[in-house]
Amino acid sequence: MGLKLKTAREKLGVIAGEKSKFHLTQGVGEVTTLRNENRQTSSLVNESEVLGRVYEKEKLVSMLLCDASHHDDLSVYAICGMGGLGKTTLSQLVYNDENVAKAFDLRVWVYVSDDLNIKRLTQAILESIEGNSCNIQELDPLQQRLVEKLVRKRFLLALDNVWNECPDKWDVLKQPLWRGKRESTVVITTRAEKITLMTAGDILHRLRCLSNDDSWSLFKQKAFGRGINEGNVILEIIGREIVRRCGGVSLAIKAL
Ligand SMILES: Nc1ncnc2c1ncn2[C@@H]1O[C@H](COP(=O)(O)OP(=O)(O)OP(=O)(O)O)[C@@H](O)[C@H]1O
Ligand SMILES: [Mg+2]
Repeated sequence: MGLKLKTAREKLGVIAGEKSKFHLTQGVGEVTTLRNENRQTSSLVNESEVLGRVYEKEKLVSMLLCDASHHDDLSVYAICGMGGLGKTTLSQLVYNDENVAKAFDLRVWVYVSDDLNIKRLTQAILESIEGNSCNIQELDPLQQRLVEKLVRKRFLLALDNVWNECPDKWDVLKQPLWRGKRESTVVITTRAEKITLMTAGDILHRLRCLSNDDSWSLFKQKAFGRGINEGNVILEIIGREIVRRCGGVSLAIKAL
C-alpha cells in the first residue's frame, strides 16, 4: 500500500508539474464554452463530407427499424464516446437515413446541453414539430399539447449532447413520449456512459475511433481540398504520421 501511495504521489507530482509547464490556469471558463449554446446542433449534415461510419450507421438504422417493437416501453439508444469523436455526426446520419425517414411519422431533433430543463425541452420538441415558436409556459399544458401531437404517431426523437443523468427529470420528460406509438424511439448522444442509468439501461452504442484510413481521408480532405497534392508520397507519409497522433478523433483531425 505504501509503495502504491508513493507511486500515486509521484504521478500526481508529474501532472501538477505539467500544469505550470503548459501555463494552464485554474478556472471553469473553457468548460462552459464547450457546453454553451454556441455549440448548438441541428439535424442537418453534409453526408458527402462524412468519412467511414458506414457499419455503425447501418447497425443503428437496422436496430431502430427492427428492434423497437419488442419493447413495451419507449426504446432508447445512447451513442456514447469522448468529445469530438463523431457522436452527433453519426446521429445525424441515422436521423437522415432514407429508410428511417420513411419509417417514422415524425422526427424531432433537440440540442440538450447541460441544461436538462424539462419545460425548455418540451417547448423545443413542440417547436420542432409545429415549426413555429411555442408560447405555453406551464408544464402541464405543454405536455398535454405534446401528447396531442404524438398520439398514434411513430416518432424518432434525437436528443443531442445530454450531460446530466437525472432519472427524476427523465421520468417527467418521458411522460408525454410514451403516448406515441410503441415503436417510437429516442436516440441520445452523450459523453457520459452513466446516462444509461437515467434511461434505465437501454441500448448503449460505444462509438469507436475513426480507422486510420478514414482519419487520413478526412485529414486529406481538409488539408488539400479536392485532389490537390494527391499522390505526393512524402506528404502522405508525414500526413499519416500526424493523423496517427489524433487517435481517430474527428475533431482533432479537423482542427489540425
Ligand atoms: N466520420 C466523420 N467524417 C468526417 N468528419 C467528421 C466525422 N465525424 C465527425 N466529424 C467532424 O468532427 C467534428 C466533431 O464531430 P461531432 O460534433 O459529431 O462530435 P461529438 O462526438 O458529437 O462531439 P461532442 O461530444 O463535443 O458533442 C465535427 O466538425 C464533425 O463534422
Ligand atoms: Mg456532439
